Amino acid sequence: MTERVAVVGAGQTRFGVLPSSPRALLREALGEALASVDRGLDPGRIDEGYLASLGFGGWQIGNPAALLAEALPHPGMPVLHVEDACASGGGGLRTAYQVLRGGSADLVVVAGLEKMSDNPPLRRRYWLGVSGETEFERLCGLTFAGVYALMAERYLRERAIGREVLGAVAVKNHENGALNPKAHFQKRITREDHENAPPVAEPLGLFDCCPVSDGAAAVVLARGSVARQLTDSPVWLEGFGGASDTLALAGRESLTSLAATRRAVREAFRQAPFEPRKVQLAEVHDCFTIAELLALEDLGLVPEGEGPAWTLEGRTGLTGELPVNASGGLKAKGHPLGATGVGQFVELFHQLRGEAGKRQVPEAERGLAHNIGGSGATCTVALLSR
Ligand code: COA
Repeated sequence: MTERVAVVGAGQTRFGVLPSSPRALLREALGEALASVDRGLDPGRIDEGYLASLGFGGWQIGNPAALLAEALPHPGMPVLHVEDACASGGGGLRTAYQVLRGGSADLVVVAGLEKMSDNPPLRRRYWLGVSGETEFERLCGLTFAGVYALMAERYLRERAIGREVLGAVAVKNHENGALNPKAHFQKRITREDHENAPPVAEPLGLFDCCPVSDGAAAVVLARGSVARQLTDSPVWLEGFGGASDTLALAGRESLTSLAATRRAVREAFRQAPFEPRKVQLAEVHDCFTIAELLALEDLGLVPEGEGPAWTLEGRTGLTGELPVNASGGLKAKGHPLGATGVGQFVELFHQLRGEAGKRQVPEAERGLAHNIGGSGATCTVALLSR
């Protein structure tokens, strides 16, 4: 029989512009994850570890996963480096899920780590650029904001709506970030702030973009029988889909829907014992505000065509029918690339155990995590339950 898999521990640093070294960030996140295991966990019991990171800026592109064994500490533990751009975290978690389900390990730790802020602007642009399609898009000078701006432009035009829907996403996620002590931005913004912000790649302005963040996150995953020994409150993984699409936008049929998200979510729900309408909160990949709007419909969380109305009417807000990005999302919680997908699990772990403080979604029992790489070239979707 295939084993169930659960999250038994989770922790993260604050995301933001941080003075700490990558090693120190990793140690902090791992320490918090281990400390959160209810009955304690000797790191020496962990069978293997995966580190999700782009090695942003080139600080350690080759072999960074060895640092995971050092930082845990569990000298000699088998490790693996996972790199799928911004979906590296989801990729590492999905690999761990499969290994645990297959029964070849009892406990796996997955960490994500990025140190971005200490790179000067041109170097940042280069390192963000190399996670996109480099042969055509980058050569045309297209940045990530530019790629998502093309999607936003088409989306607003097809639906005959204005930028205020993007503003509603930004205001909501900053509102949630203000309640999250681990968020990069813990300040509220208004619709006017959004409207009057400097343009980055029109129609996207400053408040449509995620920031450049440092940070680390870590989770401990366990086989079902082992999870029950470690805690009375495991967070179960009920389904985990993964998918891909063409690297460049030009190869895709649509600019206003990500096929990789649709494929990954279909696979996740095929495995899960519940339907999309049973999801009570979702952490979705809002690297730019338009990405949250695309995700709402691609994930089947709201009916086709209704993403803008749900957003403008506050139905995806913290007190709405379906809270989306209660953590503040990438927009306000921050986006330290490799750490982002793991950080989404940290949020859902606390939400589903009722430990999310001021941003707690009442009686949350089922959550979804959606992690995108590049402009939708890679994607994972995980379904978790209390
Ligand atoms: N949202 C809100 N405020 C932001 C911000 C963001 N995304 N980025 C920066 N700021 C704020 C800073 O906190 C700072 O505020 P302060 O003056 O009150 O201290 C101010 O804007 C200037 O910050 P700075 O770092 O100089 O901004 P920048 O112009 O160099 O960078 C962006 C702004 C939008 C270009 C940058 O955040 C960016 O590149 N984001 C996208 C990252 C990305 O593409 N990730 C991968 C996604 S797939």
